[in-house]
Amino acid sequence: MKSENTNKMKITNICCIGAGYVGGPTMSVIAQKCPDIKVTVVDINENRIKAWNDPNVENIPIYEPGLTEVVKEARGRNLFFSTDVDKAIDEAEMIFISVNTPTKTYGIGKGMAADLKYIELSARQIARVATSDKIIVEKSTLPVRTAEAIKNILDNSGKGVKFQILSNPEFLAEGTAVENLLNPDRVLIGGEQTKDGRAAIEALVGIYQRWIPKERLLTTNVWSSELSKLTANAFLAQRISSINAMSELCEMTEADVEEVARAIGADSRIGSRFLKASVGFGGSCFQKDILNLVYIARSYNLHEVADYWEQVIIINNHQRSRFSKKIVQSLFNTVSGKKIAFLGWAFKKETNDTRESAAIYVADALIEEQANVVVYDPKVKGEQMYADLDYLASRDIDENRNKLIVADDPYAACKDAHAIAILTEWDEFKTYDWKRIYKEMQKPAFVFDGRNLLDKEMLTEIGFVHYAIGKS
Ligand code: NAD
Ligand code: UGA
Repeated sequence: MKSENTNKMKITNICCIGAGYVGGPTMSVIAQKCPDIKVTVVDINENRIKAWNDPNVENIPIYEPGLTEVVKEARGRNLFFSTDVDKAIDEAEMIFISVNTPTKTYGIGKGMAADLKYIELSARQIARVATSDKIIVEKSTLPVRTAEAIKNILDNSGKGVKFQILSNPEFLAEGTAVENLLNPDRVLIGGEQTKDGRAAIEALVGIYQRWIPKERLLTTNVWSSELSKLTANAFLAQRISSINAMSELCEMTEADVEEVARAIGADSRIGSRFLKASVGFGGSCFQKDILNLVYIARSYNLHEVADYWEQVIIINNHQRSRFSKKIVQSLFNTVSGKKIAFLGWAFKKETNDTRESAAIYVADALIEEQANVVVYDPKVKGEQMYADLDYLASRDIDENRNKLIVADDPYAACKDAHAIAILTEWDEFKTYDWKRIYKEMQKPAFVFDGRNLLDKEMLTEIGFVHYAIGKS
């Protein structure tokens, strides 16, 4: 680290462990905005790194609007992708840890706690390799007080190397990652409240303030920062479960959930965003982070707190399952042997990410009822859809391939179908020739709109039987 004056460190070399949905875009934007800093993103997944280095920038492994332009500008200049983790750690003054923190699938805390093995492995690797002082930045979403464990591992490397741990959680949403990184509502940096801790915070502030106004750079202690990330995701997911709970009541009472959302969202204390009723939230983080929050609360014996947040997940699971039940009931109580076309598999539009997508659970439930599901998604590959279904382990993998067919054309997917289910809100679905689709379907032709995307009036005029979330 070069010293600009007595207190300020100037960072010239950064590395990031983890080249995923967070590490890749985040570091690309930092590299674009700080051409004088060498940024190396490393990963143990060779294929992922190979894809990030693909000469055709369109083949980078993550689809995000605007990302290819950022990568095009910085890659090879000061942005590098590599599998040589040791070298990048050794050279960097600041190391971001951006590895995955999935829900544990084994042992204590199975199905609830965050699995921190990748975090611990990264910390141990840094401890083993580092020969000079470093700032370690937690970018992954972590349980509160994880920095303590990381510090413990690093401080016992026996080499006399000094480490400062910062928490700098990422708030980007997929599909808008680049926009969120370029213009974030805030950047949160938590650090030790000591002279060295404050210097480390300032070093990271120095990077972000190249393009983000200083008043949006919030600094706190480490624990507030770690807990704020879980809290933010819990609050966001809670809003969706709240409006989804109301959507079921709307269906019973002839209220319209979109009108209710508009009416409450006009209250500036409530606000209008994140009130879109849906087939249920998906994505890699909401469920995992709330389960983790529930687990943490229970581990402190805070059972009322845990129960409160767990309800957000219970309503989300209910929303997915009542959507599949609605399809079965509407199709005269049986979908056995019937073709159900899915438009969309990604957990939201503008991403190829399918983790925890509602589509997976709805497909699984319909296949259980012996339906033939045919899926079209403009960005998701068939092999991913099969991997998602296989992961649930509900049946033989050959049966999944028999019962779920992947279509590369939406009209072929819908041809001869008994029903269409909209699972992702891709804009292109609105522009389809719905008259043609209707003509080519079995009658009565049903549309189950899990995203309230399509125009009900247009569809019913054509002749469709139409169901949308939270509408009578
Ligand atoms: P991801 O699975 O896409 O990427 C993680 C990467 O880390 C993988 O490519 C994996 O191979 C790599 N990795 C794991 N262990 C490694 C090791 N020891 N050395 C080198 N590489 C290693 O995950 P993601 O979606 O980028 O999420 C990462 C973290 O960021 C999680 O904690 C998540 O909760 C958080 N987060 C994610 C998002 C999002 O939108 N996906 C947003 C905010 C925060
Ligand atoms: C979410 C948060 O929005 C990010 O701030 C956070 O950084 C990220 O999780 C994370 O920690 O991983 P993301 O999951 O990418 O981002 O996408 P969202 O836009 O939040 O959508 C999540 C799910 O909720 C999607 O399935 C979406 O369709 C659904 N949703 C969203 C609704 O059903 N209704 C809404 O009103 C909004």
